[in-house]
Formats: sequence, C-alpha cells, structure tokens
Amino acid sequence: MVYKIREFGPLQNDDLQRVIMAYNIPLFQLNFDEAEEKAVVDTLRSKWISMGPRSQALEEKFAEMLGSKHAVAMANCTAALHLALLAVDVQENDEVLCPSLSFAATVNCIKYVGAIPVFCDVESLKRPTISIDQIKKNYTDKTKAIIVMHYAGHSCDMEAIMQFANEKNIPVIEDACHAPLSEWNGKKLGTIGAIGCYSFFSNKNISTGEGGMLITDDAQIHEKVKLLRSHGMTTMSFERSKGHATAYDIVELGYNYRMDDIRASIGLAQLEKLPADLDKRKHVRSWYLEELKEADRIVVPFADNTEFSSNYVFTVNLKDSDYEKRDTLRNFMHENGIQTSVHYPAIHRFSIYQDLPAELPMTEYICDNTLTLPMFGNLTREEVSFICDTLKKGVQHVFG
Ligand SMILES: Cc1ncc(COP(=O)(O)O)c(C=O)c1O
Repeated sequence: MVYKIREFGPLQNDDLQRVIMAYNIPLFQLNFDEAEEKAVVDTLRSKWISMGPRSQALEEKFAEMLGSKHAVAMANCTAALHLALLAVDVQENDEVLCPSLSFAATVNCIKYVGAIPVFCDVESLKRPTISIDQIKKNYTDKTKAIIVMHYAGHSCDMEAIMQFANEKNIPVIEDACHAPLSEWNGKKLGTIGAIGCYSFFSNKNISTGEGGMLITDDAQIHEKVKLLRSHGMTTMSFERSKGHATAYDIVELGYNYRMDDIRASIGLAQLEKLPADLDKRKHVRSWYLEELKEADRIVVPFADNTEFSSNYVFTVNLKDSDYEKRDTLRNFMHENGIQTSVHYPAIHRFSIYQDLPAELPMTEYICDNTLTLPMFGNLTREEVSFICDTLKKGVQHVFG
C-alpha cells in the first residue's frame, strides 16, 4: 500500500507543522473546527472572559449529560482531584488507596493534602484497572478514601469496589479523565462514587487546552468545592459585576482553581460534538478488535467490554515480552510513521514515590509491555488496517 502523508491546514507555527507532519498517523487529532473558533470569538466580543456565564452553562450542560446533580468547572483535573480529597475530609497521615498505573496527578493529589498513597496493583493484562483483592488487602483503619481510575474509558470493577467502600463507609473518588459518557451497569462513570473528576486537557475526549470538571450528587460537597475553587470567597466577581453582591468574606483557605469563559466556550462546542465523536471512536475500536483478534502475543484490554465507552485511548499489551522488545516494537512503528505512546509509566517508580512500599507485579509488567496506538474519531478503516498490519509485522520482526 502506498501511504500518503496527510494534508494539514495552514498552521502559523512552522515548528508545530513539522512536529505534526513527522507522523503519517498521529496518536490523537483535535476535533476542532469553526464551532470552536466562533465560540472563542463570541466570548472575546462579549467582553467577559474570566469565569462567568459560559462556565456556568458548561457546568449545567455537563451535569445534564452525565445525569449528575452538580458540576463544578475547574482549571484542570489535578485541581479537581485535590478539592475532591479536601471535600471528603482526607487529612494529614490518612491513607488513600490508589492505582499506580495512571497519570501522576491521580496520586499527587493525595500528597497535596498530606495523606499517604497506598498503591494497589491492577487486575490483569485484560483488565488493567485497580484490583478489588488489592483494595481489600491494603485496607487499614487509617484508610479514608479510595481513588479509582477508569483506564482508557473502561470501568473498574465498580460493583465490588462500591460494595466494599460502602461496608467500610469510605468515599470513592472516580478519576474519570478517560471516561466522559462511558457507562457501567446503566450508570455514567464518574457518577457512581462520591465524586467524579474529568480532564479537558488537549488530548482528552473533550479538549479545551487546559480544563476540568468535578461532579457530585452531594449538595455539601458541591458547596465546599465551589468555595475552595475560588479562594474560599463567599461571592464571585461575576456576581459582583451584576451588582448582586458588593462585598465578600473569606471563610476557608481556598485556591484559584477556576476555569475561564474562553475555555468554557470551547468546552460547550466540544460537548455538542462529543456523542458523534464517541460514536466514530466506537467504530474505530471495532476495526481494531477485528484486525487484532487473532494476533499472537497481543492482548487487547477490555476486549469483551460491551458497555458504552469513550474509547479515550486504544492500548495493547504484549504477552511474554520485556521492555526492550516493547521499545523495539515502538521504534518499528515510529519508523513506519505511526505515533505510539505508553499509558503509563508506573507512578510508584517515580523518584518521589520510591520510599513508599509497593509490590505491584502486574502494574510493572503492563507499563513495560504496553503500547498505545492512535485513536481519534477521524481515523479511517484504511489507517487502522495499516496500523495493525504494521504492528503484526513489527511483532514478527521483534519476536521472530
Ligand atoms: C488519568 C488522569 N488523571 C488526571 C489527569 C490530570 O488532568 P489535568 O491535566 O487536567 O490536570 C490526567 C491528565 O492527563 C489523566 O489522564
């Protein structure tokens, strides 16, 4: 097959153009068009660019789409996770159960509040999500919360996790960064535990550059998070500008974790497009599954999942492999113009976490032997075939 370099629209920045052109098939492509441009221009012309009516509209729309009572727009998901732990009253030296196979923010937030991350291994190559057996094993009377992460947009074992958390009366915080509109048992991921946190970073299903959202059904948590998001102030500048309140008090030590209306307007445009984009991703995933169903050495995580998924990323795990073989395979893909990534380097191996106890053989195997392939709505059937053919050739090349 002759594979043509894609044509991209004109970019202002030559360096950026070169970076994007380096791969025939990038890992991810922004789902942006005139809708986002118009949203930004309209916001600029409205002359209100910080948190205001568009942020509020984004919160309302997000809560409605997720079926949650409350949504709080945030500067990013890291801030959302931080406030989530404060809102459920996790304190210094408390323990929080968490996965290590995630982005660092899932665990850094625990350190922000002075608590102790207790790493739990994931289930298996087929289900790289936090293991209930590990949660039970690592639970102590100092455990004050569980953070779960719905890897790639597929659900953790929420039935077992919620049952255990309810028995012990501890809150579950869902890091649902990968999973907007993903489902488990008829419920949207992020609405099952006490709090759900989402990221709108550029490469997420909803992209606003930076941005995030916290959702909850609990009115007290909602009030507390709103307060902490903006310095612990009793009123916001948009309310004051409307003349509704002229003074404010500071009643708690809060932060500036606000979103702004420029990003919120992009978020609103992105939410409109989300269902159609997820539908396209569903097809892309089904093509991958078909192409890889008989591939030796390749395990596709959650291949049997029939629940609706956001398909944030598409990963494969290599059987009977090691990190050198995986890296050789990655290079082979790159030489063929296909960008890949690794979700994730294990958090417990980072320097700042090395003094914490962690026996996580499955997490370590996966992070050494996993490969993330391109995933976005506009990937074509032909491109997926090309990626999978190249992957199979690469496996042959590496493993013989
Ligand atoms: C699983 C997970 N948790 C948390 C975050 C942090 O999100 P943000 O970049 O919006 O702070 C990310 C973002 O990359 C993520 O993938």
